[in-house]
Amino acid sequence: MSEAPTLSRLDNRRADFPGLVTATGTPWYYLDSAATAQKPQAVIDAVTRAIGVDYATVHRGVYGRSAEMTLGYEAARRRVAAFVGGREEEIVFTRGATEAINLVAYSYPGTVGHGRRVLLSQLEHHSNIVPWQLAGWEVDVCPLTEDGRIDLDAAEAMLTRDHAMVSFAHVSNVLGSVLDARRAADLAHAVGAKLLLDGCQSVARMPVDVAALDCDFYAFSGHKLYGPTGIGALWGRADLLDAMPPWQGGGAMIAAVGFDRSTYAPAPQRFEAGTPAIVEAIGLAAACDYVGKAGLEAIHAHEARLVKSTREALGAMNDVTLFGPEDSAGIVSFAIHGVHPHDLGTILDEEDVAIRAGHHCAQPLMAHLGVTATARASFGIYSDMDDVAALIRGIERTKRIFG
Ligand SMILES: Cc1ncc(COP(=O)(O)O)c(C=O)c1O
Repeated sequence: MSEAPTLSRLDNRRADFPGLVTATGTPWYYLDSAATAQKPQAVIDAVTRAIGVDYATVHRGVYGRSAEMTLGYEAARRRVAAFVGGREEEIVFTRGATEAINLVAYSYPGTVGHGRRVLLSQLEHHSNIVPWQLAGWEVDVCPLTEDGRIDLDAAEAMLTRDHAMVSFAHVSNVLGSVLDARRAADLAHAVGAKLLLDGCQSVARMPVDVAALDCDFYAFSGHKLYGPTGIGALWGRADLLDAMPPWQGGGAMIAAVGFDRSTYAPAPQRFEAGTPAIVEAIGLAAACDYVGKAGLEAIHAHEARLVKSTREALGAMNDVTLFGPEDSAGIVSFAIHGVHPHDLGTILDEEDVAIRAGHHCAQPLMAHLGVTATARASFGIYSDMDDVAALIRGIERTKRIFG
């Protein structure tokens, strides 16, 4: 990662995001970007065009508008592929990370001689736990280090040739801890397993190059990358996708259909049954353009500075517990003794500060931390020191209220 640029390089982005004001036009201090990111006007415009003057279906129409839309949809696939360093035939559009992980859990065949056994970690989002359970995998759980990272020494000791898959969050949605993905890939590959990275929290926070990471699958959601909801992607190594059977059946994923037997299109179409999320895919490509122009290294450094300031301010307060490592990516989870995170969230809302309070869809991690909920502030490209100041002001007020 290159030297952190000054904050000013990405400051003053708020004007690009119409959602960042309250109903009365005052600033809304939005600190819930890990749940979903606000949308830049460029994405809103792209979606408006695609669902308005450009709108038609894809892949089937013989008329010009449909052919144009097909070009736009496939260009979106190329844009998303380039964004994560992959090739277009390696991108399956899905509804989001959840569907992408389900796809792998249901379709990935354990390689010959391997069972359907997956190694997850204690910090995974429910989306990276439940699909494996539902699809009938045997699940092992890698513990965490003291400071809240996936313990790769433990993973090394646990992995056996029975494991067909290792599936880890690239960045934890609660702790912000960043996985050493390259080492995780080496460990998985050493026993003949594949590595799936849940990239939901990394894709918008740091440069991602699937080839350099040496992972086998990378799953993410568009709405956390400043794009629309209802769209996301699974990047998968072409040879693996090619060998995987379809997961859902329907139109658009077939080669030929008969009542006795049907054959299927090659990947990625084989995994995109039904009319796809055309508008959303085009919106996601516009989001990739917006984020790509700002630069992922700059965003990473920008968020790191905000995390550092927030942790320092919280660390200087009495009765505050900080979770996760110092160098967490864009996310700060904390607890204030004697104040339930939901009460904190409600009082902050009165100050137009939006944080997340709860288990963050990571109940096994909450159990490990010995809490039922945390408060979480998470940053995005548009966040700035005013957000941090508003958060700290609101927490000080909350502490006064609770005495
Ligand atoms: C780490 C992680 N994985 C998976 C998901 C699920 O994403 P989605 O609900 O968009 O499919 C989330 C969303 O919060 C997440 O943070």
